Amino acid sequence: MLIAFEGIDGAGKTTIVNFLKDELKKRGYNVVTFKEPTDSEWGRKIRQAFKDRSLKPEDELELFLKDREWNVKRNILPSLKAGKIVIMDRYYYSTIAYQGARGIDIERIRKLNEKFPKPDLVIILDIKPETAIRRIRQRGDVPNRFEDLEYLKRVREIFLSLKNNIVVVNAERPIEEVKREVLDIVLKHISKGLHR
Ligand code: TYD
Repeated sequence: MLIAFEGIDGAGKTTIVNFLKDELKKRGYNVVTFKEPTDSEWGRKIRQAFKDRSLKPEDELELFLKDREWNVKRNILPSLKAGKIVIMDRYYYSTIAYQGARGIDIERIRKLNEKFPKPDLVIILDIKPETAIRRIRQRGDVPNRFEDLEYLKRVREIFLSLKNNIVVVNAERPIEEVKREVLDIVLKHISKGLHR
C-alpha cells in the first residue's frame, strides 16, 4: 500500500507522517517513509537551486522527475514489493501543483508521472497560504520562492482541484485533531483493502 501526504509547506506533513508511521508500527504493520525531494544527486541540485532561485520551470520539472525516478527505483518499488506500507512525505501531486503553478500544463505533468506507482490513498493537509507563511516564519525559516503568498495560493488551488483517491484534511486545527482524523482515515482504508 502506498500513501502520499501532500499540501503546501507548513501544513504539518512531516509531523503527521512520523506520527502515522509510529501508530501503524504499534499495530504490527511494516512501514517505511520517504520524502521528496530526496537527498539524491537530483534532490541536492533542487535544494541548491531553491537558494539562488535559478531554475526555469522546465528545468525544475525535469529535476523533480529525475529525483522521483531515482526514489521509485531505489526505495519505493522495493519496499512495495516487500509488502510494506509506504508513506510518502510529498510525491507527484506536488509536481502537478507546484510546477503547474509555475505555468506548466497540468495534464502534461500528470502524464509524465504516469509511469510511477500510483498511490492507493492521497491525503492533502490543507491550510491557507497565510497560515503557511506564518508557520514558516514562526519556525525561524525565511520563506523561499516556493513559499511566496501568491504562488502558494495557486499551488493550493491546484491541490484542491485534484480528484481520485484524494482526501482533504483541514490542517488549520490543533495538531492532535488532525492526527486523529488522519489515523482514522488510514485505518479505515487499510481494513477496506483487507476485505476486498
Ligand atoms: P519540503 O517538503 O518543504 O522540503 P524541506 O522542508 O525539507 O525543504 O519540499 C521542498 C519544496 O519542494 C516544497 O516547497 C515544494 C517543492 N516541490 C516541488 O516544487 N515539486 C515537487 O515535485 C516536490 C516533491 C516538491
